[in-house]
Amino acid sequence: EKLVTVQSLRKKKANGEKFITVALYDAPMAAMAQKSGVETLLVGDSLGMTVLGYDSTVPVTMEQMIYHVEAVARGNKKSLIMGDMPFMTYATTEQALTNATRIMQAGAHMVKMEGGAWLADTVRILSDRGIPVCAHLGLTPQSVHKLGGYRVQGRDEEHAKQILEDALLLDEAGADLVVLECVPADLAKRITKSVSMPTIGIGAGRDCDAQVLVINDILGLTEQPPKFSKNFLVEAEDIPGALRKYAEDVKEGVFPGEEHIFQ
Ligand code: KIV
Ligand code: NA
Repeated sequence: EKLVTVQSLRKKKANGEKFITVALYDAPMAAMAQKSGVETLLVGDSLGMTVLGYDSTVPVTMEQMIYHVEAVARGNKKSLIMGDMPFMTYATTEQALTNATRIMQAGAHMVKMEGGAWLADTVRILSDRGIPVCAHLGLTPQSVHKLGGYRVQGRDEEHAKQILEDALLLDEAGADLVVLECVPADLAKRITKSVSMPTIGIGAGRDCDAQVLVINDILGLTEQPPKFSKNFLVEAEDIPGALRKYAEDVKEGVFPGEEHIFQ
């Protein structure tokens, strides 16, 4: 079967064909997701909250990320695996090179880092050396203590412009994907039209090139699920069925619905 690559994802963007991402953390979920039509598997540092019980992603370590990237890689055959770089492991480009190498050698095909213009040099350096990068803009959970909570970002025009400019800089620097988290739908649409890399939205409306949800939210494992998420297990018979329904609903433009979107 055909492998998902950075090139095949760009081709989907060019063809206006949506793709699906799920944040997940272990081998059986990875196996089910890639069989259910999920093109990209994100080993998110959300695992700090979803599986380890921390109240933010700040405590997550390289060792924990590597343990879970390895598990996901064992369950996967054809999807593209993205591994999150945890808090403060890419504060300098030196650190980013060392730690991205470890995430790639654990089995990821791409690393993800949170940040705007300041990260552009690092993106360029990793990209030039053969490490694909997914950027992450809008609500960046590793900065929760600076942001003062998990809030929608880019509501005012000035901040929206800054996020758009960050996206353009990171695109130019060689980023291959960008996650847009909790931004108004019209901003996500503007960014998606302006950058060459595909955009992956979460709480970012319907017009991104792809959508991402956390497996715990898809399966109803979250006590207080975020507004932008949906439990797909209630309409399905089993976990693969829930994943297929999520993928279908994204491809048909049914998910996210109005109730999941910030205006
Ligand atoms: O850690 C994670 O799961 C993420 C996604 C929510 C985008 O970064
Ligand atoms: Na993350």
